[in-house]
Amino acid sequence: MRLFIIPMMALGFISTYAQKRQLEVNASNIKAKIKPTMYGIFFEDINFAADGGLYAEMVKNRSFEFQDPKMGWTEPNSQKYLMNPDSGFATLVKYIGDNVNKNYIRVKVENDKGYSLINEGYRGMGVKKAEIYNLSVNAAQVKGNIEQVNFSFIDSLGNSVGQVGIKPRGNEWKIYEAQIIPSKTLKKARLKIDFVGEGSIDLDMISIFPADTWKGRKKGMRKDLVQLLYDLSPGFLRFPGGCIVEGRTLDNRYQWKKTIGPIQDREVMINRWNTEFSHKLTPDYFQSFGIGFFEYFQLAEDLGAEPLPILSCGMACQFNTGQLVPLEDLDPYIQDALDLIEFANGDVKTKWGKIRNDMGHPEPFNLKYIGVGNEQWGEDYFERFKLFQSKIRSEYPDITIVSGSGPFPEGDYFEYGWKELKKLNVDLVDEHYYKSPEWFLENADRYDTYDRNGPKIFAGEYAAHPKEVKDGPEENNWEAAISEAAFMTGLERNADIVELTSYAPLMAHSDAWQWAPDLIWFDNLSSYGTPSYFVQKLFSTNKGTDLISIYENGNPLVGQQNLFASAVTDVDKKELIIKLVNSKSLPQKTSIHIKGVKLTSKGKAHMLFSDDLRKSNSFKFPKAISPVVETVYCSKGIVELELKKNSLTVLKFKIK
Ligand code: AHR
Repeated sequence: MRLFIIPMMALGFISTYAQKRQLEVNASNIKAKIKPTMYGIFFEDINFAADGGLYAEMVKNRSFEFQDPKMGWTEPNSQKYLMNPDSGFATLVKYIGDNVNKNYIRVKVENDKGYSLINEGYRGMGVKKAEIYNLSVNAAQVKGNIEQVNFSFIDSLGNSVGQVGIKPRGNEWKIYEAQIIPSKTLKKARLKIDFVGEGSIDLDMISIFPADTWKGRKKGMRKDLVQLLYDLSPGFLRFPGGCIVEGRTLDNRYQWKKTIGPIQDREVMINRWNTEFSHKLTPDYFQSFGIGFFEYFQLAEDLGAEPLPILSCGMACQFNTGQLVPLEDLDPYIQDALDLIEFANGDVKTKWGKIRNDMGHPEPFNLKYIGVGNEQWGEDYFERFKLFQSKIRSEYPDITIVSGSGPFPEGDYFEYGWKELKKLNVDLVDEHYYKSPEWFLENADRYDTYDRNGPKIFAGEYAAHPKEVKDGPEENNWEAAISEAAFMTGLERNADIVELTSYAPLMAHSDAWQWAPDLIWFDNLSSYGTPSYFVQKLFSTNKGTDLISIYENGNPLVGQQNLFASAVTDVDKKELIIKLVNSKSLPQKTSIHIKGVKLTSKGKAHMLFSDDLRKSNSFKFPKAISPVVETVYCSKGIVELELKKNSLTVLKFKIK
């Protein structure tokens, strides 16, 4: 008996392996138009994604506004610490008047015994040999004669690897600019400031940026990071979050009006992720708003993406205080939303359109979407949302309003939320899911049964979180990425109701993150895309224009024997594109019968795969898992293909 059973099992195993899957693609069966917004990006200042990341400023706490105003700065030879009366010291001074940023620093140098100030940067400063770094500092002499202030990048031993001096003149505040060109590449340099002469001098806004920023903009964004975003060809840019929109308290919410205008007038604020996780405390996490709403709109424009701002609905994060604005006091919050639309789209003669113009952008940003609330739930949210909706709809009927369905993709909050959202006849519902890879595989058919007459879907935050994996970049492994790919075929197959989708969070500093996994990892010198990044890129750069059918035995492929699929045509590029995910640990043979179009005989298969589900990319091997391209053939309307085990394959053929 035993002998009999074992060969049968083995036979079954072999026959499943050998069985060729017969798929049928019908390009005449157009199911929906794919929205240009289908695959976008979600940006939040979490994991040092803005300050310390995308925003290329290298000096941390440049204007001495952190809660501990000297955080990030040290004075190794200070009188105060060494009891060395011959050195010097720095005192904080408060501006007279109503400056939003209150502090500057007064340095008193007794003589030339080596008083210096050192800034540690964002976990160090990344400097590249022979590149230009632009220094700027606001300074005013107070007393005596400090004739020169020297700024040097130093290595871990304190040796200078590049220096420049400025010569302060007079008691008035002036901006001094200079350039430093390092003689070495260092990942963790620091900035040392020392002084020639004796006396007192005031300093503020001590700032260094690489000259080589995205589009060469002065005090702009990190070029490598924006390039990674650009390469995704995102359909939209959602900003500024995430929970950061809501704040731990209402005072701590994101207020867009405080993030525009001159940089030094943007009020520095604690970042809500500073103390969010007790096991990942980052006490030095603050928001300078060097990237504010103007810069977000400009970034969206650079990326060719629709801007999608999300605003506070008058509720602080319900995982924290859940602080509420009483309904009768909600008007200023609603006005913020209306003013934002005017800031983005209004004529330059309008109040907010003029501010946009004054910031250098007379043309409108062509805002089409606005989000009200992030991850809110319960009655309090819907009461507030309703007021926003009615006012925005009456003043700006063409704007699509995004509403939330809470933090979870199922359960009581979610069910109740959807019931209310339907009653309110909302435009677009933002759903979030941070789940296991198994969940993603099992939910590839999630939207197949959604109401076709209800609101449209924005899969606004999602990522597969593998269990039992070391915390950090290793969480971005192939197991997570392939399950997202499988799920994304489901998003695409439902493009008639799923209009926008984005992975979250987008970026993380490898020395300063709070949340993993993330799409892109970076340190002070380099950055790389995770396997999930390459999944996103393959979908986003191959989204096509028309959703068509791909079936096996008349059924969509939603994971039967680990096979998932979606298909599109691109009428502009004249292409047929088929996405196939084989989540099995064995190859699968397929025979794909193409109907409704004639294809050129040669096409390309763009494949992502790995033998090891635990494998991820890294700074050392940034492209360990990245697309491999092979030629494939179509003969008499049939494409024969063996899908590699655990693989995503994007097949592309030109249409004749
Ligand atoms: O993406 C990280 C966080 O996850 C977002 O801030 C929030 O919306 C969600 O809970």
